[in-house]
Amino acid sequence: MSEPFDAVDVIQTKRDKGTLSDAQIDWVIDAYTRGVVAEEQMAALAMAIFLNDLNPDELNRWTAAMLNSGEHLNYSDLPGPTADKHSTGGVGDKITLPLAPLVASFGVIVPQLSGRGLGHTGGTLDKLEAIPGWRAALTNDEMRHQLAEIGAVICQAGSGLAPADRKLYALRDVTATVDCIPLIASSIMSKKLAEGTDALVLDVKYGSGAFMRDYDKAKELATTLVAIGKDAGVNTTALLTNMETPLGLTVGNALEVREAVEVLAGGGPEDVVELTVALAREMLECASENVATMGVPAAGLHPGESKTNKFAMWLAEQDPAENLKNGKAMDVWRSMIAAQGGNPDAELPWAKATETVTASESGYITQIDALSVGIAARRLGAGRARKEDSVQAGAGVVLHKKPGDKVKAGEVIFELHTDTPEKFARAREALNWEIGPKPEPSTLIAERIA
Ligand code: URA
Repeated sequence: MSEPFDAVDVIQTKRDKGTLSDAQIDWVIDAYTRGVVAEEQMAALAMAIFLNDLNPDELNRWTAAMLNSGEHLNYSDLPGPTADKHSTGGVGDKITLPLAPLVASFGVIVPQLSGRGLGHTGGTLDKLEAIPGWRAALTNDEMRHQLAEIGAVICQAGSGLAPADRKLYALRDVTATVDCIPLIASSIMSKKLAEGTDALVLDVKYGSGAFMRDYDKAKELATTLVAIGKDAGVNTTALLTNMETPLGLTVGNALEVREAVEVLAGGGPEDVVELTVALAREMLECASENVATMGVPAAGLHPGESKTNKFAMWLAEQDPAENLKNGKAMDVWRSMIAAQGGNPDAELPWAKATETVTASESGYITQIDALSVGIAARRLGAGRARKEDSVQAGAGVVLHKKPGDKVKAGEVIFELHTDTPEKFARAREALNWEIGPKPEPSTLIAERIA
């Protein structure tokens, strides 16, 4: 089959700071997925984009072309509005676990496709796999059935979603083109748009444990992600949140599931609850706007039915914190875990060995560096250095103190957990914290982008 374009011309256009046409973009992504555009040609194009950017129209088209390289899921026939969340990843970020059942407990359908962890950030699937029997891989039919019956699913993204991204991401990894806002934004959004959600809330993190450490860069990423979502017709908002220090008091798979369950039982650390509730509120608001403007049906209703607007108003007025306290979110969690073969009552695994790290002086904790705790948890066996590595369910770090807490010399700051005690020393070496005078309280949610 003759090809309508030549990859060299496409590369040259971007190399010379030109604008790619819609047809060029559609072709180059499709031809790359088919193996007609060679890896070295896509590497050159990625570098040209890294250096010369994509304008907003090019970026929207690039994202759509990546999305169109695979299947689109569609839940518009299910009885309720849909909403999803994506986090750019952080240390101790277990928010998806309480958030998905919490939002579903209000009648909003949450199709949450997640990944495994790599490097210092944990993966949602690794955390849930600490629950005995729980299964990450579902067929599209199983996913749809679970969404219809329970309202929430957290599972592994199938290989059919945005295959162009899988190829391009691996290529970017070895060609120094990961750290590029248009390529990151199109990569994230092609996968999220393929999930077929009507509303999307992004948790874009900044700080030492975040993918984008710098606040302004994180804000640029958030703004770009929101613009792509809106252009694609998805009601999208973002929160810019602090990842200088780990979220909550646990980092590691089973340890984080325990903390998520505490939140679902109406307790849990303040910062985890604050962010869960804030993201849930965003998701309910976006879903409410969609019900009002698009007539997305509530359970048993149809677009245009008068009760639809009542449901929209009701959703907008809800306080998500209520369903953490009254057990409704916990009921959805238990059904969601059981539907995927997990036993919500099973004892979660503990690591075989623990050690503590204590304060050498008295004062206040002024900082606990998120990246350092992420690295320590990975070294203890909670995460992966390479994709092929396996993880220990019980391994990780428990924080006995957080920034702002008073500490006495000799008091425990961290508790390290692992099945492989020879790893304690390297984990200790990674940890980085400071003790000094009482610090100013820090802000968890810095800004909202809509
Ligand atoms: N996450 C993604 O999915 N893609 C990127 O390019 C970066 C982070």
